[in-house]
Amino acid sequence: MATETTRPASVSTATNTVRSTRKVSTNANRWLVPAKIAVFVAALYPLARIVLLGFTGGLGANPIEFITRSTGLWTLVFICITLAVTPVRKLTGWNALLRFRRMLGLYAFFYGALHFTTYFWFDKWFDIAEIVKDIGKRPFITVGFAAFVLLIPLAITSPKAMVRKLGRRWQTLHRAIYVIAALAILHFWWMKAGKHDLILPKIYGAIVIALLGWRVLVWARDRIRQRAKV
Ligand code: HEM
Repeated sequence: MATETTRPASVSTATNTVRSTRKVSTNANRWLVPAKIAVFVAALYPLARIVLLGFTGGLGANPIEFITRSTGLWTLVFICITLAVTPVRKLTGWNALLRFRRMLGLYAFFYGALHFTTYFWFDKWFDIAEIVKDIGKRPFITVGFAAFVLLIPLAITSPKAMVRKLGRRWQTLHRAIYVIAALAILHFWWMKAGKHDLILPKIYGAIVIALLGWRVLVWARDRIRQRAKV
C-alpha cells in the first residue's frame, strides 16, 4: 500500500514508482536489507508492548479498552508515516525511502486488523447483529469501519506484481489512502469529542492536513507549470 501523488510533465505512474525504486543505487542496497529488518522489528513494538503488558498485568482495569485504543492509535500513526514517505522523499531527495513504504502501509493494515479484531472478538463476541447495529448507530464506528474496509483493497494490491498488473489503476486505487486518513481522523475526533478530550485528534488532524495539503500544493504547482509550457 502506498501513495504517489506528484504528477509532473512526465506523468508519474505506479509502474514508474516501481522502476524508480529499482534505480536506487546498488550501494544503497547494502544497508537496505538490515534497515528493512530494523524497521520491520521496530514496527512490531506496539504489539510486543501489548503482549508484555498483558503478561505482566499492566493493561489496566479494562484490558480490552487498552488494546482497542492502543491498536487504533498505532493504525493512525502508521497511516501518517506512510503518507509522510513521499513528502520526505521529495524534500530530502532520499529515494530509498520508497523501499519502506509498502511495509509501513501494511503495518497500518495489520494494526487496523488487530484493532477491528479486538472490537468484534473481545468487545462484541462475534455478535454480527450487534456489530451491524453498532456500525449503523454510532457515527464514529461507522467511519472507522469505512476506513478499515477501504484499507483492505490497498493491502491486497500492495505486492509488486499487483502494481505492475494494475498499472495506472493501482495509483488511482491507492489514492484511497487520503480518504482513509480523513475518515480515521473523523473516527478519532468523534470518539474523543464525547469525552471532551480533543488534544490528540487535533494534533493528528493537523499532521494529516499538512501531509495532504503538501500534496495539493505540489499538484497545483505542477498544473501551473504544465499550463505555462503549453
Ligand atoms: C483505519 C481504521 C481505523 C483507525 C485508524 C482507527 C483509529 C482509532 C483511534 C485513534 C482510536 C482512539 C485511540 C485512543 O483513545 O487513543 C480508536 C478507538 C476505537 N475504535 Fe478505531 N480505528 C479504525 C477502525 C475501527 C473499526 C473498524 C472499528 C470497529 C468497527 C473501530 C472501533 C473503535 C473503538 C470501539 C474504539 C474505542 C472507543 C472507546 O474506547 O471508547 N475502529 N480507533
